[in-house]
Order: sequence, then structure tokens, then C-alpha cells
Amino acid sequence: MEPISAQTFQLPDDHPGQHDPAYRARRAAIASVGESYLEGEPIPDVHYTPEEDEVWRVVSTTLADEHRRHACREYRDASARLVLPVDRVPQLREVDQRVHALTGFHIRPVPGLVPTMMFYGTLADRTFLSTQYIRHHSVPFYTPEPDIVHEIIGHANMLAGPEFADLYEAAGHASRRASSPEALERFSRVFWFTLEFGVVMESDDPKAYGAGLLSSFGELEAFRDADLREWDLEEMGTLEYDITHYQPVLFVAPSFDSMYDRLMEFFTTF
Ligand SMILES: [Fe+2]
Repeated sequence: MEPISAQTFQLPDDHPGQHDPAYRARRAAIASVGESYLEGEPIPDVHYTPEEDEVWRVVSTTLADEHRRHACREYRDASARLVLPVDRVPQLREVDQRVHALTGFHIRPVPGLVPTMMFYGTLADRTFLSTQYIRHHSVPFYTPEPDIVHEIIGHANMLAGPEFADLYEAAGHASRRASSPEALERFSRVFWFTLEFGVVMESDDPKAYGAGLLSSFGELEAFRDADLREWDLEEMGTLEYDITHYQPVLFVAPSFDSMYDRLMEFFTTF
């Protein structure tokens, strides 16, 4: 895999850590771990500060409570198998070992957002590329970008479940078959409205299964107030979305099994 330079990553103007030089320096130091990682080598540990561990403790404890009420059963089962630490930021090395033992998926460090094709394509090799830095401590329940809370509490918990792991791999193969920028865009939108922000019915109650919802305290509390639409891949593939706000439109599958079958068919025939 091509090394990715941490220098490429600039914080957006509205990032809570934009004007905090200490945070920016920490982020650069953590990014350099992902930057220097070589495939096949052990994943080097990041020495998280007590403040960073505290952000993880606050957010993961609160989200665990939310998940009991708002997450679908398959996600709760998968996260119960993974058993993430509560009181400190987990090391990707240990998350990788656990997830790999459960479903054969690998978690690999990257210094920041990677190109779309690389992120999705790597899923075909049952590998998930994860950032390691954590959101700014001043706003523990908000991040304008994927951080280790989103990657691990959202995605790694999902990847500890066999059905989710198979869907991610199928998504990776589908992305590699995208023959044009338009096709990749359509694929990305479906990924967004399913594995990031999907909802399934469970005993007449909408439950979250997407990593974006499952890693956002505010959105888990509010997603039932969104415009919950019937599952429609055609509409998902064309609908615009804005990553900086709560999603105003979400798509609901009638059951987890129905979501799995339809999404798997979409990915395998893409
Ligand atoms: Fe994500």
C-alpha cells in the first residue's frame, strides 16, 4: 500500500481543534504513527494522554447506554463479542487481533482520510483503514470527521459480526467494479445510507445499524424524528447528503435479514 503523507491533512475551519496548537501537534504525532505503518508489521501503539483516555471513557460509556436502546440486535451481539475497553482508547493492534479472530477482518492504521477508492477498495481484502486520532476534548460528542471513536465504536464493532463483515467485503468488491465516477458516486451513496446511516425495523421499532448513527450520541437520540423512508436503493443512489448535519432522510429496511439480502444482492451485482 502506498504510504500516505500526514502533511496532506488540513483541519477544516470549523474543526473544534483548529485554534488549539497543542491538539494540532498531538494529531500530527498520532498521524505519523499511521503514516509510518508498513503492511505486515505489528501496528505500533499510540501513547494516548489521560485527557484522550477520558474523552474515550465519556463517549464510549454514553454510547454503550444509547446502544442498549437504539442499536439493532446484530450490532449489539457483535460489540458484545469484541469487548472494547471502556476506560482508555483502545490500540488498533488489539482491536485488529480481536476482530481478525472473530471474522477475519483486519484493521489497519492510516494518518487521516484516504482517497475514496482506496478506502472502499481495501474492504475487498477484508481490511478496514482506520484513523487513530481522537476528537477534541472540548466537544466530546461532536466530530466533523471520522476519528477513532467513529472507526472503532461504529465500524470495528460492526466488523466483529459475520454478516456485517461479509457486507463490507462485498462493498469493497463492488467499489472496485465501479466503471465510472458516476458509478462510484452511486455506490458511495448507497454505502452512506446503509452501512453508515442505515435503520432496520425490529419488533416494530426502528433500530440503527449504520456506523455513523451508532457513533453519534445526538443522532441516536434523534434519528426517529428524521424522514424515515422505505428501503429504496434507486433513491439512495441518487439522493444528496450533507455530512456536516444530522441526516434529515434515513432509509429503513423491514428487518435485518431483509436488509442483508437486498444489500448483498446490490453489492454482488454492482
Ligand atoms: Fe464511517
